Amino acid sequence: MCGIVGYVGNKSPKDVLLEGLKKLEYRGYDSAGVAILNGDRFDVYRAEGKLSALSEKLAPVRFSGRIGIGHTRWATHGMPTEFNAHPHKVKGISLVQNGIIENYAELKEELLEKGVKFSSETDTEVVAHLIALQMDDSHDLVAAIQSVIPKLRGAYAMLVVSESEPETIVAFKAGPPLILGVGEGEILLASDVQAFIDHTNKAVYLDDFEIVKVKGAHYEVFSLDGITLKKPVVALDLASEKSDKKGFKHYMLKEIYEQPRAVANALTPYVDIENKRLSFDSLGMQGAPTPKEHLQALANCKRIYIVACGTSFYAGLYGKYLIEPIAGVAVDVDIASEFRYRDPVLEKNAVAIFVSQSGETADTLAALRLAKEKGLTCLSICNTKASTIDREADLHLYMNSGLEVGVASTKAFISTLSLFNLLALYLAQSKDLLTEEEETRLVDGLLALPSLMEACLAYDTYFKEAAQELTNYKGFLYLGRGHSYPIALEGALKLKELAYRHAEGYAAGEMKHGPLALIDQGMLIIVICPRDKFYEKTVSNLEEAKARGGVVFSIGSGDDKQLKSISKHYLGIPEAPWMTSGILSVIPVQLLAYHLADALGHDVDQPRNLAKSVTVE
Ligand code: M6R
Repeated sequence: MCGIVGYVGNKSPKDVLLEGLKKLEYRGYDSAGVAILNGDRFDVYRAEGKLSALSEKLAPVRFSGRIGIGHTRWATHGMPTEFNAHPHKVKGISLVQNGIIENYAELKEELLEKGVKFSSETDTEVVAHLIALQMDDSHDLVAAIQSVIPKLRGAYAMLVVSESEPETIVAFKAGPPLILGVGEGEILLASDVQAFIDHTNKAVYLDDFEIVKVKGAHYEVFSLDGITLKKPVVALDLASEKSDKKGFKHYMLKEIYEQPRAVANALTPYVDIENKRLSFDSLGMQGAPTPKEHLQALANCKRIYIVACGTSFYAGLYGKYLIEPIAGVAVDVDIASEFRYRDPVLEKNAVAIFVSQSGETADTLAALRLAKEKGLTCLSICNTKASTIDREADLHLYMNSGLEVGVASTKAFISTLSLFNLLALYLAQSKDLLTEEEETRLVDGLLALPSLMEACLAYDTYFKEAAQELTNYKGFLYLGRGHSYPIALEGALKLKELAYRHAEGYAAGEMKHGPLALIDQGMLIIVICPRDKFYEKTVSNLEEAKARGGVVFSIGSGDDKQLKSISKHYLGIPEAPWMTSGILSVIPVQLLAYHLADALGHDVDQPRNLAKSVTVE
């Protein structure tokens, strides 16, 4: 994944790059580095570990130049060590990459045969060598890059500086995002506008296989074959998103507490609050007019494909459990990395929905492009405005959760669930399946969610106290039926990514088809069992597990004596209508994973091996 940032201007490149990298640390945090002009050399500094290690290393260093590039890494090829950290410098060329060169082994082999020596295990160093070799012939950085790009296979965004052209950064991309920030007398380049929004709101979004040459305060964009391109400069209506723990121990805990507000923010733009009616007139991008033909396609659709990854995929699955019974529209839900490669047969007049907190997940983006190619109306549900998925979709629902820093997604998930509630109602309304009274009653129920969620936050103390005991379990089985099933899957994912313990989510009815064999005293069975139409069946499944020595932790509705009697631990969420009970049960499963991970001493906000935005396959 990784984050890259470049700067040319009059400010201190060290400060600008470090600030930018801080904003990009969510993309990778196992090592970081910069190359900054000092005299006639680009000095490279790199450090293993979090960005703070690089900042410490750079603290006493002064650079005379006003140009530099930086990188924060999520390792793909080679361990997260200092020698594998970017920038990679070969002769006078320094280069940073966000992405993967898939044919790097083949290219490396050819270079080794030519006698080239490597100092890292990365795919990126291969590109630095290729450009350096090409520079021996062309002596021109853009020309060298133009002849190297056709040799590369993969998805990448790169920034390159050369000591032979010390006032210049050349950047290019094929896949991951790369945006140019055009400031007063300065130019910035980054993987995400947040890395430069404090300096300028004027942005140029680069497209794949375009090359930009930045020299001083000027830039020029070329096609691969050297034709100068005129690119629009977009004035971004975005504020700098400041991260602040606001007194909480971790961002994740703060974000869990922000969920009632996040749900209110997600619902409000699509509801006529006064009349408690749906208001789906503004599905254009960031307030732009709604493309009517696409809105029509959504209103009339008979099939929906929901495509996403990880937590967003589970949110999509929850969407299926709502849309099918409420609106009678068939819904297929796919993991993006499978969807894009399985040659899906897509019905004409269907609508495809892509869920992504970051709006940059590589597989989800590729799936969206595939659906567009096949002529489907594409609706994005994103948190990050102006992200690539947001920009490429036809219709837009926004999570409006605000900045989510914790790598484990919480408020974006819960906001998406609430948007699926609304969408299910909208589709039902478009098909005349909803009377005005029903609409008002159900919208009213959704608007009551934030205050019910506040009540669930009280479980924070409960899990804090229970966490130590929970560390005794070696495994966790999450069970649910109906719309509690995706919540069970999400609970298991949260526990895996934060506590590094084995956890599985299962449809409760599947237990006797295999998972029952896992039951012993070391396995905690966490069941999400609100009083809905599945209640009795789920309780029977729990009894079966209990009869085999299973230890049960149940999350039910209110004061449920029956569940209590079969559970070692019981938590009652507020009694709520079926449509909203699913959302309420998310909070306990998040708190459980959070406190268990904290009790185990793990880095909750930046779990090992992960990154917030997954821009590689
Ligand atoms: O940004 P996206 O919603 O597209 O990200 C998808 C997944 O990478 C993400 O949800 C991941 O599973 C989270 N770390 C889960 O907490």
